[in-house]
Amino acid sequence: MQTKSLRGRDFLTLRDFTEEEINTFLDVGFDLKRRFAMGEKHSHLLEDKSLYMVFYNQSLRTRNSFESGMTQLGGHAHFLASDKIYTPAVEGEEKAYSTERVSDVARVLERYGDAIAIRMYGPPTGWVYGKANSYMEEFARWTDIPILNMECDKYHPCQALTDIMTVKEKLGQLKNKKFVMSWAYSPSYEKPLSVPQSAIIAATKMGMDVVQAQPKGFELDEEITDACAGYAEKSGGSFEVSYDMEEAFEDADVVYPKCWGSKAEFENVAQGDDSGMKKLFEENKDWKCDQEMLDIAKDDALYMHCLPADRGWEVSNEVMDGPQSVIFDEAENRMHSQKAVMSLVM
Ligand code: CP
Repeated sequence: MQTKSLRGRDFLTLRDFTEEEINTFLDVGFDLKRRFAMGEKHSHLLEDKSLYMVFYNQSLRTRNSFESGMTQLGGHAHFLASDKIYTPAVEGEEKAYSTERVSDVARVLERYGDAIAIRMYGPPTGWVYGKANSYMEEFARWTDIPILNMECDKYHPCQALTDIMTVKEKLGQLKNKKFVMSWAYSPSYEKPLSVPQSAIIAATKMGMDVVQAQPKGFELDEEITDACAGYAEKSGGSFEVSYDMEEAFEDADVVYPKCWGSKAEFENVAQGDDSGMKKLFEENKDWKCDQEMLDIAKDDALYMHCLPADRGWEVSNEVMDGPQSVIFDEAENRMHSQKAVMSLVM
């Protein structure tokens, strides 16, 4: 199939990219990782370019991997805390001399630099599902420079690209490896659906055998799971939904147990009522990845997590710090995969 050039493209979700294009991101990411390890300078790639990073939420990995990555590529990443600039807002949500319309912010920043990256989910949008994603699209509508999604309420494509890069690095191939994305308990429900949704998009697009596991009430966006079934069919992989963590872990090559909030209950949270969400969490405290649970998967199965992980709740210390855990390689690969994205689209 004829592919479009990657130059100038927005990076909002991996749904916008073909398997071949995702493989190009991975190839370039591995090449840049090798160059970094060998001390080979590659600062000509984005020399004198500027990336504006607008954060509405906190971050350790995303901010620092983008900043370090951009330095290594010869450019500069500007950190913009949304409450320290005139907070970018859409029509109807503006406050005089406190916010600035997204269309204006986007058109100003494109006069100075080369790409805009945005992180927005949860509290800034009152947990109304899809609203943060619509901010990404609004930025993209008003600029010709690439918009990079650093995590919204639907997608975290940088994390997902990194996840499959790490699996490929560890297992040598993606095709027909069993990848289990599972819900896990945490005392905090303030976690978007972006990581699991993007992980299953990436894994199904790349031909993995994907199992999506969660207790009743924690189903992902049906529009996305339906799309994943189609991606799996096209790529030669498979996609199944399970409501049993133990059954899902059987014969797994990769397990990714992680907490997220209930999409249905976020509708009530947005109206100020989190009692249903809290009840659902209390009922499912046994969804935890300890060594006994990990032992159900293949002996050499990988344990993955986007981090930060809630130790002692989502996962035991033994698993997180054990020999099957690849979490720090995964965190490291954030920088290499994002350098590939920036190099190709900017
Ligand atoms: N995984 C991830 O996006 O980490 P941060 O929230 O620290 O950026």
